[in-house]
Amino acid sequence: MASRRIEAKTVIITGGTGGIGIETAKTLLETKQYKLILIGKDPEKLKKTAKELDPSNDLVQTFACDLAFPDQIKKTIEKISVLNARSGIYAVINNAGVYPFGNATNTTLTGWNEAMDINLRAAFLMIQGVLPLLTKSIGGARIINVSSTAGILPNHFALAYSVSKAALIHLTKTLAKELGKDGITVNCLCPGIIKSPMHEAYHPSEGELEEFYAKRGSIIPLGRVGEPSDVAGAIRFFLSPEASWLTGDVCVIDGGRLLL
Ligand SMILES: NC(=O)c1ccc[n+]([C@@H]2O[C@H](COP(=O)([O-])OP(=O)(O)OC[C@H]3O[C@@H](n4cnc5c(N)ncnc54)[C@H](OP(=O)(O)O)[C@@H]3O)[C@@H](O)[C@H]2O)c1
Repeated sequence: MASRRIEAKTVIITGGTGGIGIETAKTLLETKQYKLILIGKDPEKLKKTAKELDPSNDLVQTFACDLAFPDQIKKTIEKISVLNARSGIYAVINNAGVYPFGNATNTTLTGWNEAMDINLRAAFLMIQGVLPLLTKSIGGARIINVSSTAGILPNHFALAYSVSKAALIHLTKTLAKELGKDGITVNCLCPGIIKSPMHEAYHPSEGELEEFYAKRGSIIPLGRVGEPSDVAGAIRFFLSPEASWLTGDVCVIDGGRLLL
């Protein structure tokens, strides 16, 4: 009997050009079960990332979109909807994020809005816009929100970031309750400190960055900071059939840091 070809499922990854996004894309492509739609702000970075991940150019699509702007999100989803009208979308991974610094005294309105717009509102708008496509996915669909341990135990000097990530956890639970009847699971990952370009911006030299990772890693029970692959592996699991009865979960990936 001829073996039936298994259709690759389509997964959207926002922040697809960042440290965790690229590693997630690599990990999912390795399984040969998924086609990817990567969303990022910078079109050049997107082009370069897609070329490296998928030289044959048939498994990765890219859409440049500044997630701070609802009209750009709407237009991007319209394009995705046209291309995926028949088969739907299996999963959306809301991973894009920004880290504005600031405490109670000096958080600016710009920083506050940036955190809320990109870390929280964009995730909601992506989910709301893609929902009709998720419900078309045969056998159910998945939503994964990448929050942070800062959403559980606030980070020093990252007020707006911590608040936005806490709200993302609650958005996850609220949607999990509502969307279960549609066969959609909604889960949240809370990484601790992960090596990624997010930290490079604040540490001008490589030496300084390595020192920062070593210092932070030394106080973590598992003795090191995280790698993007630590998060990508969890995402792969939450997309897998083994995770089909998991919803509303808040999965902490931090080497034990929150236990201290
Ligand atoms: N690294 C950590 O220690 C850590 C810890 C806990 C949680 N997290 C969370 O994990 C997620 C991924 O972080 P990462 O470490 O991979 O960060 P990263 O390397 O800085 O990547 C951030 C990604 O978000 C995208 N992005 C930022 N602003 C955007 C906007 N306005 N519109 C569209 N895309 C935008 C970036 O695209 P462009 O490059 O095109 O701007 C990039 O692809 C974030 O939500 C972060 O909060 C990270």
